[in-house]
Order: sequence, then C-alpha cells, then structure tokens
Amino acid sequence: MLAGEQGEVVERLFRLLVRLGDIYGAEEMIPVGSVQVAGVSYKSIGDPGLEFLEDFAAKGAKVKTLTYLNPAGMDMENWKEVGFPEDFAKPQIRIMEAFRKMGIVVTATCTPYLAGNLPRYREHIAWSESSAVSFSNSVIGARTNREGGPSALAAAICGVTPNYGLHLDENRKPNIIVKVDKELEFSSDYGALGYHVGKQVKNKIPYFTGIPSSANTDQLKALGAAMAASGAVALYHAEGLTPEAQLMDVSGLETINVGKEEMATTYETLNTGSIPDIAILGCPHASLREIGSLAGKLEGLKLKRPIWICTSRVMKEAADRMGFITIIENAGGRVVADTCMVVSPIEEMGFNITGVNSGKAANYLPGFCQQQVVFHDVDELIRRLSA
Ligand code: F3S
Repeated sequence: MLAGEQGEVVERLFRLLVRLGDIYGAEEMIPVGSVQVAGVSYKSIGDPGLEFLEDFAAKGAKVKTLTYLNPAGMDMENWKEVGFPEDFAKPQIRIMEAFRKMGIVVTATCTPYLAGNLPRYREHIAWSESSAVSFSNSVIGARTNREGGPSALAAAICGVTPNYGLHLDENRKPNIIVKVDKELEFSSDYGALGYHVGKQVKNKIPYFTGIPSSANTDQLKALGAAMAASGAVALYHAEGLTPEAQLMDVSGLETINVGKEEMATTYETLNTGSIPDIAILGCPHASLREIGSLAGKLEGLKLKRPIWICTSRVMKEAADRMGFITIIENAGGRVVADTCMVVSPIEEMGFNITGVNSGKAANYLPGFCQQQVVFHDVDELIRRLSA
C-alpha cells in the first residue's frame, strides 16, 4: 500500500495511518472488522469536504471492510417533506453518492450496532462517532479509538488501523470509581448522569457501581453518549452490566459519588428554556423499542408543537411495519431517518427552543444550533408540547 501499488488514494491514506501509529507508538497495523465514518453532514464538512470525497471516489477508492456512516444533515428520502432547504439538500446528496461509490453502506446512523453493523466482543474496529465508540467499547466490549473522519476513512480504505490506545488491554483499565446513589428512572436520568460524570472525569475510564441491573441497552447508550459529549469518555465499565467490568481490579481507585443533589443540579444546568418549539428525541438514534414507546405515549394525542424522533433508516422501516409511524404522525410528530438534531440545520428551520431527553443533545444544541434547551423525560416533554 505504501509503495503505491494499490493506487494514489490508498498510498495517501496509508501514510496517514502510519503517521498516526508513529505519533502514538503503535508497533503494528491490525485488521479492522468494521468502520464507521464521521464527517457526513454537509453542515459539518461543507464544500471542501464534498470536493475531497468526490475526488477520492472519482479516483476509484473502495473500502476493504464493512463501513457505515454517521448521520447526514437531513432525511435522505423525506427531506422536502420535513422542510430541509434545497440548497442544503443538493450537496448532501452528492456527499452520499461519493460515499456510495466507495462501497460504503449509505445508512447514516450513530447506532450502526442496531442497523446491521454489530461487532463482536474484543473485535478491533475503527469507529468515529463518540457515542457509538463508547457503546461498542463499553457495552459490547469491542475495541476502537475515537477516530476522526479522515483516519476512519483511511481505515476503511486500507482495512487496517494502528494498534494503540483502546485496542490494547493495558489501556482499558478503569482509573476512577463512580458510585451512583440515586435511583435512575428515565432515559433522561441516564443522560443527566452521563453529562455530570463526563464533566467530572474528562477523559478517564470510569467504573460505575450502583447502576441498576435492569438498565437496558438504550439507557446505557444514553449514558455513554452524554459522557463522551461533556467529557471525552470513550470507554466505561459498569459493575454487573458491561462485559469487561468483572475483569477489572478497582482496589485503591479514587471514588466520586453521584446522588440526588448532583442530578438535580445537572437538570437545572441543562434547562435553558421552558416551552419547546419542537422536541427531538433519538440522540443517539432511537431503537425500535424507543420508537414503539413514543408511539404508545402519543396514541390518540394531538400535539400543539411537533416532536421528531431521529433514527436509522433500518429502524424507521421496522417502525413503519409496526404501525408506530402512523401513530406518531397522527399526533403531529415525525420519525426522521439518517440525520439528527445536531448535524441538521434546525436553527434555519424556525426553531429556537428544543426539547430533548438526551444529555448529549442538551450539551451540543446551544453551541451547534443556537438553541435554548428543555431537558426532561419524554412524558414531561409531551406535556409541554401539548400546553
Ligand atoms: Fe447521534 Fe446526533 Fe446524538 S450523531 S449521538 S443523534 S448528536
């Protein structure tokens, strides 16, 4: 690859991986079982990114491993109906086409593990999106660093990544204990906990105790997403819940406690608005269980202001077959696929105050989308949308 025998693009990208490996002291390249590439939304990469991708695709670049995409800037099928501007849609469609030409699966989601890209325990992968990185490392026990857009694309096209960081056993050990001393009821509680802990531990590897054994994968994805957003947590362990937790020796580690007071302060901090113009759920992208649960809550209601739930195309199709989409639409909501509230231009669509149940979304919406935030559990958001 370095000698250019596989073409100019492979050579350039392999050089990038070698440089990265040199910086972090990797001794070898390792094959990756799958890749998830970020830098997909036109809002994030703009014209320079679009031109770069089209150039690679035109030169015949092809991926060597299963590769998925992070959310794009709009619903790729229903963008007109949902109200995405046309001057945004056109370049976004070209971006997706360039990825497709490279052999990348143009399902754009931050929950690839729910949409056909499920790594196994201890498998080496190269994923980009921080919540997906956290979920795959922590809940599945696969191994990935938090890749940037270019290094993930390089791993996809070369089929390998340098062996450093979270690929190695010694770097996966916890270095702080987080004792949770507050009942966690709603998905927003997991988001608030993650937001708070991320701020405290920054890029450490927390080991949680006190998270209920009933926590489901949706709640764990909300927790990891928020911690990766407010801090830079790419891996956490949770006693009795995540696969590597039982292998870890936590004796002598510093402990921080999270109780009622910390959780209440976090809710207060994250709420900068009161009545939302819109509520957007599905950060990270919603599972079928979450879409079904929303449909159950909305059945028979007529909201005064809209609610969206963001998800992958795959989940949207399953939700459609279950009749969930009709129920949600009848109440004035939408199931939006391929995109999310942070990477889509919602600030240009007339929304100023957004309701969310996600700690990650609450963290990013003020800066990325100039939104005031209403952060609550889904029932409370629905109440406020009906008021
Ligand atoms: Fe996914 Fe967007 Fe949230 S990428 S994790 S829905 S900010």
